[in-house]
Amino acid sequence: METKIFKIASIFENPDELQQAADILARGGLVAFPTETVYGLGANGLNEDAVHAIYQAKGRPSDNPLILHICDTEMLPQLAREIPEVAVRLALEFWPGPLTMVLPKTSRVPDAVSGGLDTVAIRFPSNLIARELIRRSGKPIAAPSANLSGSPSPTTAQHCIDDLMGRVDAIVDGGSCGVGLESTVISLVRQIPTVLRPGGVTVEQLREVLGEVRVDPAVTHPMAEGQKAASPGMKYKHYAPKAKVVLIDGQQEAFVRYVNERKENGVFALCFSEDVPALKVPVVCYGGKEHPEEQAHALFDALRRLDELGAALVFAHCPAKDGVGLAVYNRLLRAAAFDVVKI
Ligand code: TXA
Ligand code: MG
Repeated sequence: METKIFKIASIFENPDELQQAADILARGGLVAFPTETVYGLGANGLNEDAVHAIYQAKGRPSDNPLILHICDTEMLPQLAREIPEVAVRLALEFWPGPLTMVLPKTSRVPDAVSGGLDTVAIRFPSNLIARELIRRSGKPIAAPSANLSGSPSPTTAQHCIDDLMGRVDAIVDGGSCGVGLESTVISLVRQIPTVLRPGGVTVEQLREVLGEVRVDPAVTHPMAEGQKAASPGMKYKHYAPKAKVVLIDGQQEAFVRYVNERKENGVFALCFSEDVPALKVPVVCYGGKEHPEEQAHALFDALRRLDELGAALVFAHCPAKDGVGLAVYNRLLRAAAFDVVKI
């Protein structure tokens, strides 16, 4: 299949390109597009065949449900059967933005979107290109991250091109994504609101609005054999570069010593800028130690770079585990398949 590339500087400068991309979506095609979190691979979320095509293009297991993206809260009632008061409060505080809410679904939401669950995940992105695409297509847009299943989520159009060229109808190039990690997913169908995936909206921020908020154990722990996932995405190995990644949890000096003692061909460090001067192995830096937002923004590109550089074994310096750091930690844990060394 031929993949069109639409370069969009802004929604005001390139309305024609945006319209062409929106028309492809409305016709049932697949379009990769930027959001403030990561690039999404979009399709008309009410068109069962279009949604199936997403799974095919990504090579994604079909029991892993998709997020529906809206551009207006007026689209919500046709998708969610109940809109509890907590959802209204969260929408007022965090929408548009990097927060996805899991709510009971209406019968309009195809099973292909919900992976057979009776709930649906909904997000109202803040990225203007994303919003304008959704508005012009006139549909809620189902969109997982626009990577091949298993590889790190794309934060630039080039990442999408690397993974999906020839597999999708179009890629909208709208520059690099601000947050750099996928949205926070919160389930509102349980007694206590529960974070299924941490992201740019932090658990601390959610607690300020809602009071009690739980964090699903699968955010920081591997799932036991046979355990049922609250969020099916959590059971798959994710974000993984081809190299083996080990997460090293310790202070700067200990980290540097640990890595330098294991210097060998193919050994790399994925580290903070403060670690760089003392390291004797090749490094890819993912931001400053005290700057989780910077780390979030850089992480997925850093994981892809490690592969390009031919890394075989990567020692990654563990981030903080609170605020946006929790989201960075969650992705790195998965990249490392939960292989953590505490030093
Ligand atoms: O930031 C994001 O959320 C990006 C951009 C494109 O919006 N999208 C994204 O989609 O990360 P995806 O498909 O890569 O991740 C969706 C996550 C998966 O872990 C999935 O299991 C979970 O949301 N999810 C979707 N529907 C769900 C549901 N009904 N109940 C529980 N978890 C759900
Ligand atoms: Mg994904």
